Amino acid sequence: MDDKNPPLVIAIASGKGGTGKSTLSISLAMALADLGRRVAVLDANLELPSIATLLNISPTHTITDLIEGRQSIRDVIYNGPQGINFILGSSLPKPMRKLSAAHHFGIVNAFDTISKKLDILIVDTAPGINSSTLNFVRASQEVLVVTTSEPAAIASANALINTLHRSYNLQKFRILTNRVYDAYEGLKAFKTLEKLNFNNIEIFLTYAGHIHELKYARSAASKGQVFYKMFPKSVFSQDIKTLSQTIDTWPVRETPRGHIEFFMDELIGKASKTSDTNDAPIFNTPIT
Ligand SMILES: Nc1ncnc2c1ncn2[C@@H]1O[C@H](COP(=O)(O)OP(=O)(O)OP(=O)(O)O)[C@@H](O)[C@H]1O
Ligand SMILES: [Mg+2]
Repeated sequence: MDDKNPPLVIAIASGKGGTGKSTLSISLAMALADLGRRVAVLDANLELPSIATLLNISPTHTITDLIEGRQSIRDVIYNGPQGINFILGSSLPKPMRKLSAAHHFGIVNAFDTISKKLDILIVDTAPGINSSTLNFVRASQEVLVVTTSEPAAIASANALINTLHRSYNLQKFRILTNRVYDAYEGLKAFKTLEKLNFNNIEIFLTYAGHIHELKYARSAASKGQVFYKMFPKSVFSQDIKTLSQTIDTWPVRETPRGHIEFFMDELIGKASKTSDTNDAPIFNTPIT
């Protein structure tokens, strides 16, 4: 990838909480960095940010400083291991979590200022069908839906996919099954999701693969260690490597963000609606 290409923006999403989005975001970022890619991770879980905890660090500046206009994107970047840029989260008070579509777009858009130095931006989102996650997903080119093989996780992944399709006309979804014991279990979960959407010819699901259950996850997590680095020879890390190689073949589309047109529609539409208080500007100064 050269300096002219915009970064590939991948939202990591799930219907149910705890499917492994944040764990995979960090490990995947490291595997992509191992491939020589310049990577950033945005902790876009405004409710329960966890990337800083998983990395065992206390950030001086967080996404809140960016949202409130106190700092620029460059100032909130934490230079992590392997040159990976992290934009870390801090829990936002409830009223502030109601950012408008424009704000979500603005946050992702702020990455344009560093885009020449970036190949891939991973956006780790909050679980479920909340407006913040939906907007972060819309601002991304690719959405990787992480599920486990549990029926409840598959059902909620399906609900998320259908909401994104119905509300915003998103059509392409990549599916990853986490915490499997074998490859068959991962594929079976994907096939179930496919069957649930069999009658909808406008939804295209692609299987991005599986990640094995890591046996020593608990002890690694309690030591604040990144699984991929702590157990490089595990099947988990091999799967992460395979996933990073797959992602490396995903095309970067010509427009910086695949769904930019929906944001533009929305912004134009909202300009005439002045009574919607949820859309009151939160940024005090532009986020560049
Ligand atoms: N492949 C795996 N093998 C074993 N444990 C895993 C694996 N992936 C994730 N976990 C464990 O699952 C738990 C949830 O992981 P994580 O916090 O990454 O999920 P999440 O989807 O980001 O959660 P949330 O929806 O709350 O943001 C953690 O304890 C993590 O260590
Ligand atoms: Mg998380």
